[in-house]
Amino acid sequence: MSIVKRVGLLVGREKTFPQALIERINAQGKGEVSAEFVKLGGVRLDEGRRYDLIIDRISHEVPFYRAFLKRAALEGTYVVNNPFWWSADDKFFNYSLATKLGVAIPKTVLLPQKDYIDGITSESLRNLEFPLDWQAIVDHTGLPAIIKPFDGGGWKNVSRVDSLEELWRVYDTTGTLCMTLQEFIHFDQFVRCYCVGQEEVMIMPYDPRQPYLSGEQYINDPNYLSPELAARVTRDVRTLCRALGYDLNTVEFAIKDGVPYAIDFMNPAPDAELASVGEFYHNWVTDAVVRLVFKRLAEPREQPRYRWDALLDSASTASGSGSQVMSAVASAAEQSQRTIIPQPVREFTADVAAGASALVEEAKSAVANLIGAADDDGQAGAAPREGAESTAQPQANEPPKSARGATGKLPRTPAAKKGATKAPSLRDKKTTPGA
Ligand SMILES: Nc1ncnc2c1ncn2[C@@H]1O[C@H](COP(=O)(O)OP(=O)(O)O)[C@@H](O)[C@H]1O
Ligand SMILES: [Mg+2]
Repeated sequence: MSIVKRVGLLVGREKTFPQALIERINAQGKGEVSAEFVKLGGVRLDEGRRYDLIIDRISHEVPFYRAFLKRAALEGTYVVNNPFWWSADDKFFNYSLATKLGVAIPKTVLLPQKDYIDGITSESLRNLEFPLDWQAIVDHTGLPAIIKPFDGGGWKNVSRVDSLEELWRVYDTTGTLCMTLQEFIHFDQFVRCYCVGQEEVMIMPYDPRQPYLSGEQYINDPNYLSPELAARVTRDVRTLCRALGYDLNTVEFAIKDGVPYAIDFMNPAPDAELASVGEFYHNWVTDAVVRLVFKRLAEPREQPRYRWDALLDSASTASGSGSQVMSAVASAAEQSQRTIIPQPVREFTADVAAGASALVEEAKSAVANLIGAADDDGQAGAAPREGAESTAQPQANEPPKSARGATGKLPRTPAAKKGATKAPSLRDKKTTPGA
């Protein structure tokens, strides 16, 4: 029998998950669907479609792969996860979106970077408030707080800080990373949830205090959450993954006083290794992804499924701040509908814009339903990406080594990262230690 559909896997160091996917897809494909590791050299811009679907586990760490995937998408390859949205997303944006969708998020503040690339001087940064009102920032988040990158994964550069002085010590080590400061949730329970195909959800009790990637973090207890909490977590997971359009993701919740606070839901290449998540979860997620692959392959494919045109033509779809927000959500929700036929930019005309607006209206009502569903539970207003390659140890409950080794005195001129320009200190003179 001839092969009709091809599935490619783009992977990092992980072994068991991609191998299991290839075996199970090939077994179920019976010669009509074939899965293999993608092999790449120089990529020509006129290269035709090689794969019907690619599962991407590593492009967040290899820009060449990301560029290849966008190109493949243009040829109609369906990519899990959408490389356009993954490139555009960040944690601060998605926390903000989540609050609008009625999902509880810890109070979070985006911080100006500590350092900047070469060539950026204090003159380049005239838009920045100086000195920064650190006291107001920690008054909002409270202490302790978590400082973490606005676009990170794999527990890298995540630290808990207990005082303003500790926050400054850690902040001084963050270089050019853009960080967020977030209310620390003294959680009673903690769960990590796989979400596959924006529908299938597996809630995994998770103990973040155990060593990262040790295999001891995941606990098997289907009754860990009360039925009400499990229902709310399941709904929140779907709300987030549908709004963001991720086909494969994990959502982490720190649960306090019955409220599940979503703290991390930008994990479009979540850990699924046997040794790390255990046999039960490894098998579950492998089977769920295989189901997703066959489902996506069976969907009608005449039209490419990506909405970069909406990014280029956003003005025609928004007419006020409220509707702008809704359009952002709508365009994400719409990604799952994926109904617009991409056209060359020069051919954009009023009727295309009108078509886009109509679709946005449609998607808006879909999102409104989501919001309505969330509101039913009265939760509105409540307070890795997971690096497949990441081996960093957790620092969430303690400052990084560099900070630990510090003398406790605030360095006046923190060392700038090599290749980076030091910004004028954003420290507030009013809030120096002891002041
Ligand atoms: N607001 C928070 N409250 C309590 N613990 C947190 C909070 N944010 C992060 N953590 C802890 O730090 C870990 C890593 O942070 P996370 O936001 O998941 O970053 P990453 O994307 O690197 O996994 C989490 O698994 C959790 O244990
Ligand atoms: Mg995480």
